[in-house]
Amino acid sequence: MKSPTESSTWQPGAWRHRPARQMPAYPDLAALDAACAQLRQFPPLIFSGEVQALRTQLAEVAAGRAFLLQGGDCAESFDTLDGEAARETFRVMLQMAVVLTYAAARPVVKVGRIAGQYAKPRSADTETQGGLTLPSYRGDIVNGAAFTPEARAPQPERLLRAYSASAATLNLLRALAQGGFADLHQLHGWTADFVRASPQGQRYQELADRIGETLAFMAACGFTSENTPQLREVAFYTSHEALLLPYEEALTRRDAAATPGADARWFGASAHMLWLGERTRQLDGAHIEYLRGIANPVGVKIGPSATPDDVLALLAALDPAREPGRVVLITRMGAGQLPAKLPPLLAAVKASGHAVVWSCDPMHGNTVTSAHGVKTRDFGQVVREVREFFDAHAQAGTVAGGLHVELTGQDVTECRGGGQNLTDDSLQARYTSACDPRLNGSQSLELAFLVADLLKAQRGGAMKSIAKT
Ligand code: PEP
Ligand code: CO
Repeated sequence: MKSPTESSTWQPGAWRHRPARQMPAYPDLAALDAACAQLRQFPPLIFSGEVQALRTQLAEVAAGRAFLLQGGDCAESFDTLDGEAARETFRVMLQMAVVLTYAAARPVVKVGRIAGQYAKPRSADTETQGGLTLPSYRGDIVNGAAFTPEARAPQPERLLRAYSASAATLNLLRALAQGGFADLHQLHGWTADFVRASPQGQRYQELADRIGETLAFMAACGFTSENTPQLREVAFYTSHEALLLPYEEALTRRDAAATPGADARWFGASAHMLWLGERTRQLDGAHIEYLRGIANPVGVKIGPSATPDDVLALLAALDPAREPGRVVLITRMGAGQLPAKLPPLLAAVKASGHAVVWSCDPMHGNTVTSAHGVKTRDFGQVVREVREFFDAHAQAGTVAGGLHVELTGQDVTECRGGGQNLTDDSLQARYTSACDPRLNGSQSLELAFLVADLLKAQRGGAMKSIAKT
């Protein structure tokens, strides 16, 4: 059977014939159509060759020869577009990637939840405050967060603002990735002031010193930033939840690089990788129908209610050709739940022959309410779920391939615990997330060192099994 990406029958609007959950009720459908018509005239935000490069790298992750680091905001905001938020996310992800690369001695594939992460699924369609009921905030691409009727009305022109905000952020990311900021010789400078004196800041400086010595040795051998692009630049990919389907449809493009005569593949041009949320992964639903038709790597969030049959059916729909790295299964079970829930899924997928990337989201199964009524997460629970994830894969003989986290490099106070030992009382100081609580720069680096130790242990195990054979 032809997969939809090879056949000419699938169309970007095919999802319209399926039930679509989590869609805003736009009062003015003509204005929505007009915004989408304009988006169709705009250039793609990414190039299909980049999508292919990411596919190739994710196939390496699926095989255990690379590691995936995916991270960024829960929800980006149109109000923080001066570039600082994007630069800080990029910076802390570079630091984490250095820590992980060094420990695992494998390349780290860097994918931001960035330059398009503007749509949010909600558990309720409306919110009531002081007797007033309004539509829920669904992310800046849909409506405003302020609790007023004007802000909460879904506005189609926001699709165009999301496009230009994504383009501006992506432009900055490309400049940072290629313009010298990401040069490995700069790695001392990637530490934020508030992290420098902490134990993980110091551990990072020691690592940076060691890598600095290696770079000096390599320079003596003739490998410098001037003649070695790998030292000077990084590949940094973008991703977001493919939730607002009219937007995704309007930015779907045909692969211009396809061989003449062959069917050109469709790809989502809003980001390199798109994912399906826990609330929109119904098999007969609109979101799967959209994602199965595009050639991008696709993620699927997998929560504790997913059965082995559910996951196999998802894979049959999204990866009929069984292409390594096409699907990233992002598990978000919750600490304590994972040891019972994940192993049956690992066994079923292993037996099915789909070469997926397994990635751990230790955030979304561990959200709690603080004493002051705000959403938070305990760093200790995040760490626990990551450890359980690595243990489950070690037991199953599968590859613990990646980490998916909500983070920022900034000094926010949103998750409890970590080296700074943040408590419920400290959360109010700098809680700026538009949606879920993120790890700050210090907690992110701390988590990277923990995962580095787990990857090192895994490497030690692999070496032992090679020695045995
Ligand atoms: C998210 O990633 O922000 C999210 C809403 O996750 P999930 O779909 O896993 O709940
Ligand atoms: Co979130």
